[in-house]
Amino acid sequence: MDPTSTHSAPPLPSPVAARAVALDAEHRAAYRREAFVIPDATIYLDGNSLGALPKAVPAAVAQVIEHEWGQRLIRSWNEADWWGAQTRVGDTVGRLVGAAAGQVVVTDSTSVNLFKVVVGAARMRPGRHVVLIDPDSFPTDLYITHSAAQLVGAEVRLVPPAEAAAAIREVGEDLALASYSSVDYRTGERWDLEAITAASHEVGALACWDLCHSAGAMDVELDSGGADFAVGCGYKYLNGGPGAPAFLYVAARHLGGFEQPLTGWHGHARPFEMGPAYHPAPGITRGRVGTPPLLSLLALEAALTAYDGLPLADVRGRSLSLTRFFVECLDGLGLGDAVVTPRDDARRGSQVAVRHPEAYAVVQALMAHGVIGDFREPDLVRLGFAPLYVSHEDAAAAASILAQVVHQQEYARDEFRARATVT
Ligand SMILES: Cc1ncc(COP(=O)(O)O)c(C=O)c1O
Repeated sequence: MDPTSTHSAPPLPSPVAARAVALDAEHRAAYRREAFVIPDATIYLDGNSLGALPKAVPAAVAQVIEHEWGQRLIRSWNEADWWGAQTRVGDTVGRLVGAAAGQVVVTDSTSVNLFKVVVGAARMRPGRHVVLIDPDSFPTDLYITHSAAQLVGAEVRLVPPAEAAAAIREVGEDLALASYSSVDYRTGERWDLEAITAASHEVGALACWDLCHSAGAMDVELDSGGADFAVGCGYKYLNGGPGAPAFLYVAARHLGGFEQPLTGWHGHARPFEMGPAYHPAPGITRGRVGTPPLLSLLALEAALTAYDGLPLADVRGRSLSLTRFFVECLDGLGLGDAVVTPRDDARRGSQVAVRHPEAYAVVQALMAHGVIGDFREPDLVRLGFAPLYVSHEDAAAAASILAQVVHQQEYARDEFRARATVT
């Protein structure tokens, strides 16, 4: 048992414990727990909301604060290349999502980047009036897409991913953009965005991928998958910390024509000429807007070193093994029917969602045992398996604690029912 995970799990039956040990050995290559701070007595299954703290971050941020800011002051924009950090870190993120250099910039939030994409895509496809999006998208994707589409005079059609390819062919030449998440934030279902993208291209439209629940948890192939745009956040599996800046991908072939609407001075071709008119920078720099939050950006840069030299295929292999094993454990504990996440590896992201009518209270009761997950409306216990720091032993222990909470109705205590602001 990992010395750091002395949570209150009932003892595991020995075949389960032995299998956990064997799987941890088999998938050792992508296990970097030593690079993270995981509090004692905690099984952290919420890295799909807020990634754990990489040990490299505090020292890196202290150096930025004390030396680059404290001593070198304004000179650090040049000396420490603060100016180039958004594209430098963008290239590092690019390696994790299958994007060659020069197509990813770290900037703003996912919401803001999606706004840029929807408007920019509509401008690249004048005369087309339809944008497709999943009705079960994360709410910000729905809100932003509606608002951006309204500004450019487009109509938003809500089509589930499984029906998207057919709907795209039906809309045909009126389609400007199909915008889909690669993994459903609630159920953990993974969608075939390459098929949606190919269908979009057949009718001359563009495709955007929301990678919030994929980046850092699996091998994403933006370039070879044909994506036109992608957005994603820095604070989940990329472990950049609370409020870490997000990323924007624009395929190289579109960079010259991508006119995003937030024409701030950091996206200008010659910002220090301070001219009165906006001229977009060549390349992905045009995705920038205003002065970035450098402490967060450089924290993300340090956090990403946890992935140095790590093949994403190994990360995906470990992630699938963790979620598969967790579901097997739940089957053995009589909870298999409550699992809503697909069992087919190809259709699963890096989380497992379990349905329960008292899901909120179940999550609180789990936390009392040191198992941290989260609740999603209306009835889901959502458990994320960040492959770099969650072990198969953690998965087995979490499953047995979940079974105890459910079967012994520990969730029924009043203290677990009081709703906090953030669930
Ligand atoms: C699929 C998806 N898109 C977007 C977001 C959030 O976007 P933002 O970074 O703007 O808060 C989330 C956050 O959980 C998400 O899951």
